[in-house]
Amino acid sequence: MLGGLYKKTTYLNEYRKTQKNLIVVDSGDLLNEHYKIKDSFISSARLKAELILKIYKSVGIDAINVGELELVLGVDYLKDIEKKYDVPFVSANIVDDKNQLLFKPYVIKKIENLNVGIIGVMGNSPDVIKLMNDNVESSLTVLDPVETVQEKIAEIKDKADFIIVLTHDIMNRNWKIARGVEGVDVIVGGHQKLKLKTPYNPKNNFIVESGEKGQYQGMIEIEIASDGTKTATNTLVPFNDKIIDDKDVKKMIDEYNQEVTKMYTIGTAEKEDTVAPRSIRCNECHEEAYGGWTKTDHAKAFQTLVNKNMQFNPDCLSCHTTRFEEAGGFTVTAQEKDLRNIQCESCHGDSAAHMEDPSVVPQGNPGMETCIKCHTEHRCPDFQKNYTQEWEKIKH
Ligand code: HEC
Ligand code: HEC
Ligand code: HEC
Ligand code: HEC
Repeated sequence: MLGGLYKKTTYLNEYRKTQKNLIVVDSGDLLNEHYKIKDSFISSARLKAELILKIYKSVGIDAINVGELELVLGVDYLKDIEKKYDVPFVSANIVDDKNQLLFKPYVIKKIENLNVGIIGVMGNSPDVIKLMNDNVESSLTVLDPVETVQEKIAEIKDKADFIIVLTHDIMNRNWKIARGVEGVDVIVGGHQKLKLKTPYNPKNNFIVESGEKGQYQGMIEIEIASDGTKTATNTLVPFNDKIIDDKDVKKMIDEYNQEVTKMYTIGTAEKEDTVAPRSIRCNECHEEAYGGWTKTDHAKAFQTLVNKNMQFNPDCLSCHTTRFEEAGGFTVTAQEKDLRNIQCESCHGDSAAHMEDPSVVPQGNPGMETCIKCHTEHRCPDFQKNYTQEWEKIKH
């Protein structure tokens, strides 16, 4: 996710050199990707949120819709950073127990001779409401998004010539707004993470959505004819190696890594693996499996993080250590030397009882379900398709 930010900055800065009429928005779920954040990790999650905000500020973000993943970080906290970094959070339909809006409902931004109103709304489909109920402070209520957009457009119609709505729900709800509310020009959808190459065009307006985890820059270019007809060209620009990394952002990310390191270092944690892995005890009886495992990259996955100085970052450790933060597993603060890397128990599960008594057998064939907790669709797109070959590479 952070990787894309180097390139987003380069791309948008270049684009702005030739095209000043640019509006940059985000539809939410930008600052955090975890629903449950343990108390011990909330500080690093917030530090990362602030890093992302600072980078978005530097590329000139015009509005950020508030998604439920932002709210997971804490409402008071969001209010604090809104002030601290002067962030353009928008949300027109999340209210507190006194029926007061938490954030500005919209912003109005002038480009050339056009006043652009940008309204943010949270979704209210059952799935989104469930996520809100399960993960977010219970005192909040989500008002009807369609009615809200209608009201807000009525409120700003004299001040804004063009309306962008940032939404946070499943696609059919976007159609409801696009069709049902007069005056909507563009809807930028979020939450569902669809990759729409061609925008939907419900009625002289457009719906776009551009994937997830900062893989693409969604760029919709709109021309408005004198009779008000709009035409649009949409591109999903992939953040690949064709776009060079921005140096200033790289510095910001390096500083962030150092801060995270400081947060979790308890003084003595050493970098090298000088203690034998817990798995060496399996070697006594499973020599072949052990020997096979030591040759795989799983046996050096922690060193990979050390090489990047990321061994204190919980966002990385979860997949590069053994049973991260599970009972008896690797923890970020203690940095247990014998639980570094992806050892036997990452796949076969807690084997403490088996060590006491070999007839208590651990999971014998963990299967693909175990692998894809780390080899996610996003990181390893072809993993599931090529499972047999992937297993062959680490077979024991
Ligand atoms: C706890 C997380 C995790 C689990 C579970 C996991 N992997 Fe991995 N795997 C990784 C990481 C991280 C790397 C990269 C290690 C490195 O280079 O630092 C990796 C690398 C690999 C590689 C390339 C390395 C090589 O030695 O050629 C293969 C193949 C692989 N895994 C297959 C699997 C299979 C098959 C499973 C399930 C049976 C699995 N992995 C389960 C995290 C995991
Ligand atoms: C969701 C699980 C997951 C998380 C979280 C994760 N990784 Fe990995 N990482 C993997 C897997 C799986 C691979 C192996 C990919 C492959 O072989 O295609 C890998 C490979 C790598 C590699 C390449 C290793 C090589 O030999 O080239 C690096 C570097 C790396 N990860 C660093 C990180 C850093 C830094 C973080 C934190 C920002 C991180 N990873 C977070 C699962 C994860
Ligand atoms: C990346 C995941 C992963 C890791 C790490 C891993 N295993 Fe396995 N292991 C598997 C899978 C998957 C199978 C079942 C493969 C099959 O039978 O198709 C297996 C099978 C086994 C078997 C049964 C083999 C047989 O012939 O019946 C033993 C014993 C075993 N592993 C021990 C270990 C030991 C000991 C370690 C650590 C040194 C280890 N494994 C590390 C995934 C893993
Ligand atoms: C004292 C010897 C001993 C040690 C140490 C030991 N095992 Fe075993 N393991 C066995 C025996 C014996 C079996 C077969 C049990 C049975 O089938 O009743 C077994 C079975 C297994 C199986 C299941 C294989 C299958 O076919 O289902 C796995 C997986 C496994 N061990 C993993 C581990 C891991 C991981 C460790 C280290 C954490 C470990 N073992 C340590 C003796 C040992």
